[in-house]
Amino acid sequence: MHCLAARNLLLTGFAVLSMALLAGPGTAEEKAAAPAGPPASPIFGVTVPEGYRDWPLIAVSHRTDNKDELRAILANDIAMKAFRTNTLPFPDGSIFAKLAWKREPMKEFAGAWVPGVAPRIEFMVKDSKKYASTGGWGFGRFIDGKPAEEAAHKTCFPCHQANVKDRDFVFTRFAP
Ligand code: HEC
Repeated sequence: MHCLAARNLLLTGFAVLSMALLAGPGTAEEKAAAPAGPPASPIFGVTVPEGYRDWPLIAVSHRTDNKDELRAILANDIAMKAFRTNTLPFPDGSIFAKLAWKREPMKEFAGAWVPGVAPRIEFMVKDSKKYASTGGWGFGRFIDGKPAEEAAHKTCFPCHQANVKDRDFVFTRFAP
């Protein structure tokens, strides 16, 4: 009896396996079950670019209006080249990354300030066709690796547009 049950189980398992094999890869069910791609920002579908932490530094900033934060603005090679050659608008494929940290006193030395908790990272990706309605830029804000909500993404372009329209919507200037 015990043996029969085991055999039945084995047969069922085999049947399920053969069905899966027969169905082959790429069925609708399998695609639905497959893990989704990297998390993308709402509205724009911007994802965290691979290797961004190794990109060259454009400049740093210190914001004190509503957040006491240190920031570093990085750019990929395409955007960096445009900076170096004073090219505006930035070509398609340009990406900026903005890293931000809470400003904290250095424990070992009074008067020195260092990066604390990183509340978010942000990106701007240039694709003049895909993002035509937002100056050619797609925006993405990530908190703990997860995209911020849609409402936050509605604020990105209006602020960049209101302040730096004549600089292709980019605030940061290269700090030599
Ligand atoms: C209220 C104004 C405001 C809003 C809203 C805003 N930004 Fe910015 N952004 C700035 C300022 C000011 C800078 C300059 C660097 C800094 O913040 O220290 C900047 C810089 C950036 C940069 C670096 C490139 C550049 O333009 O200098 C990126 C990337 C960026 N923002 C992404 C975003 C994203 C994504 C959103 C929406 C989720 C957003 N920003 C919303 C004001 C804004």
